[in-house]
Amino acid sequence: MNRIAVIGGDGIGPEVVSAAVEVLTAAGDAYGCTLTFDEWDLGAERYLRDGATLSDAERDRLVGEYDAALLGALGDPRVPDNAHARDILLGLRFCADLYVNYRPCKLLLPSLCPLKDGARGDGIDIDFFRENTEGLYAGAGGRLKAGTRDEVALQESVNTWKGVERIVRAAFEHAAGAGRGRVTLVDKANALVHEGALWRRVFSEVSAGFPEIAQDAMYVDAMAMDLVRRPHRYEVVVTSNLFGDILSDLAAQITGGIGLAPSGNLHPGSWALFEPIHGSAPDIAGSGTANPVGAVACAGLLLDFLSRREAAAAVEAATLASLRAGVVTPDLGGRATTAEVGTWIADRLRRTTNQATIGVGGPRRRPAKETRID
Ligand code: NAD
Ligand code: IPM
Ligand code: MN
Repeated sequence: MNRIAVIGGDGIGPEVVSAAVEVLTAAGDAYGCTLTFDEWDLGAERYLRDGATLSDAERDRLVGEYDAALLGALGDPRVPDNAHARDILLGLRFCADLYVNYRPCKLLLPSLCPLKDGARGDGIDIDFFRENTEGLYAGAGGRLKAGTRDEVALQESVNTWKGVERIVRAAFEHAAGAGRGRVTLVDKANALVHEGALWRRVFSEVSAGFPEIAQDAMYVDAMAMDLVRRPHRYEVVVTSNLFGDILSDLAAQITGGIGLAPSGNLHPGSWALFEPIHGSAPDIAGSGTANPVGAVACAGLLLDFLSRREAAAAVEAATLASLRAGVVTPDLGGRATTAEVGTWIADRLRRTTNQATIGVGGPRRRPAKETRID
């Protein structure tokens, strides 16, 4: 049995997470894994109610009593400084030492790509390894004379040999294990010379241990351009916290949109927190139009993390089927609601597993209206 903590969070977070839990439940039933879910009331509502974000004791319980967590999104216009989101999200990333932010961006259907030659045969399939505990996110710095015209704001980038080595190694080990041929380092070593020198030295040392994997380095500005010009050439990308945050939004958009991309915050072999890479989308919260596919893909990553590879593959296959069938939310030009997409994927998963295991065809019930979009 695996215990999963569910943190819906703010805005569209609870809506997309509920679809992901429905799919996880179906996958668990179909593949014989018992998953139990506990909902955690963390987010802006609670913060505004009693000032609480995530206590040390709660964090210890999350990490100690659960195999993994699934999070929707955090961020609310009523909390303009984002204090609760930083406490909860960055608190978990830092304190549970979830040093890998794994963000796979894969073009599932050529028609989802907004680029001119996006339908190229070799597709787009980039695994981002974003450093998740250091860099400009470390909180080093401060403000002097705040609120005056003499104000000074310092935000320092923290890069340790240990922190850089382990994320670069994770990227190469992933490439080796997943049969990927190239790892690309993205940095800004021409301007940010101190951190650049450390990252380049470590990258060169670690890559020497993987002679079968090609490696190269790109400056982040050129990488932003190249992700639009020829995204097909990239396989695994390793980069710092901020650059990974920005580039993964860009990569999500060229593979169909921000609503499709999942992420895993991982301490390999220990604990993980899965969340779609999008935010709480206050502009569409409550409308039932949020795309749940990124959250559903998190369910797949979570199953993979629990070594339920077959179930994870079934989630991806069912998701792909929903896209092919045109059961999609308005961001992809469809009319389906968040809940309808989740239910369709869950049903599809049950149906295909039934067919595979007992050889009986036919859907359980009439599927939602479908329009082919590929
Ligand atoms: P956002 O990702 O929430 O929204 C950007 C745009 O993408 C909006 O137009 C939104 O409607 C759209 N969008 C996002 N997810 C979608 C989905 N699943 N389906 C369809 N459309 C979707 O980014 P933002 O507007 O910059 O941030 C809003 C809040 O979310 C902020 O408070 C921010 O700090 C927070 N945020 C949280 C996370 C997280 O919890 N991991 C990530 C990013 C942003
Ligand atoms: C993400 C988000 C967060 C980040 C914010 C909400 C702090 O953008 O998970 O990508 O910058 O890491
Ligand atoms: Mn982000």
